[in-house]
Amino acid sequence: MTDRVDWTSSASGPLRGDVVIPGDKSISHRAVMLAAIADGVSQVDGFLEGEDTRATAAIFAQMGVRIETPSASRRIVHGVGMDGLQPPTAALDCGNAGTGMRLLAGILAGQRFDSILVGDESLSRRPMRRVIDPLRAMGARIDAETGGLPPLRIGGGAALRGIAYSAPVASAQVKSAVLLAGLHADGETDLRELHPTRDYTERMLSAFGWPIRFEPGRARLWGGHRLHATDVVVPADFSSAAFFIVAAILVPGSRLLLRAVGLNPRRTGLVNALRLMGADIREHDRREEGGEAVADIEVRYSRLRGTAIPADLVPDMIDEFPILFVAAAAADGITTISQAAELRVKESDRIAVMATGLRSLGVRVEETPDGAVIIGGSLRGGSVDSTGDHRCAMSFAVAGLLADAPVRIADCANVATSFPGFFERANECGFALES
Ligand code: S3P
Repeated sequence: MTDRVDWTSSASGPLRGDVVIPGDKSISHRAVMLAAIADGVSQVDGFLEGEDTRATAAIFAQMGVRIETPSASRRIVHGVGMDGLQPPTAALDCGNAGTGMRLLAGILAGQRFDSILVGDESLSRRPMRRVIDPLRAMGARIDAETGGLPPLRIGGGAALRGIAYSAPVASAQVKSAVLLAGLHADGETDLRELHPTRDYTERMLSAFGWPIRFEPGRARLWGGHRLHATDVVVPADFSSAAFFIVAAILVPGSRLLLRAVGLNPRRTGLVNALRLMGADIREHDRREEGGEAVADIEVRYSRLRGTAIPADLVPDMIDEFPILFVAAAAADGITTISQAAELRVKESDRIAVMATGLRSLGVRVEETPDGAVIIGGSLRGGSVDSTGDHRCAMSFAVAGLLADAPVRIADCANVATSFPGFFERANECGFALES
């Protein structure tokens, strides 16, 4: 249990400088997972030293995988091969990480031993039926608590069969759980999605030498192959960069440069949304690193106008809505968000947490079942509760830069799940954040 941390964020001068953003959370989870069950030794560079991704590494260590940390953000993973994981002697604790739990469910469904996946208070409230249903259809033995909630109990020794599955929710976690179970299944696993989601599992399986065919909206693989160790370079996490992107846009006179940020198109919907609102965001030196598009992103203060966020951008910016709420609160006019009901089952109900918090800062926000209507204007100081949601806490820290008096933010310790060092980096570039 981490100690409770509260922050106060106040208005400051322009934000200036270069900000180093830590490694991508989604890619870091997957790199450790695939390296652990590959043949040979893989090096992961740029690994996110966050609580979520460290929990995933610790889980594989519990199952007998040797993982060295020669320096911060680097892991050397001694893969044990497809059948080399050892039965854990205790429950496997995913902490706050939905990605950890759902992807692990896919990997563990095909093992010969029993396992139990547990999580913290927030993760224990998140829906797991979305992975249980397809995994059971593949032959997995997997049970949850009433209502499909964690802990997940996974029975070993199940014979998995490939599946043709159309995911009813746009979710990279569901897709990935099914594909990872498909590694241990007989025959073909054919996954279709309503709307394409981040394709890191597909790309990384391919980089580790597993035969897979994929295109936006569909992925197919066949069981019975092996993964071959490979080195992974993790780009900076766009979702962490997003707080600085919006902060620089909103604080007059600001200019920030964010280096080597991952720009996978399934992640960067926020850039498109902000550009629609009038933002000045420039990409420099676009290149490929570790098979992913990256660029240095330069952001300058821009006056934003409210807009209707196009529904087809929603899955491409699913983690960025808390900070978009803040951008909308400071824009001229009305911003509407719709078809984003998934936000209600993230680390918190992000529609409710952001609407409640912004209302306490004097912003007019109306919640709808699948989104919100936000009327831009000015922000006043006050007290808000992040409810332990890392992205809501960082979003309120940005809101504090714009308010006419300090904003007190409760329950910020979980920022360490995805962005250790946010507090220091924010203050280095001009935030006035105190704890
Ligand atoms: C993730 C997928 C998304 C995202 C989460 C990370 C992943 O979740 O919100 O932060 O790494 O696959 P869903 O699959 O629930 O949309």
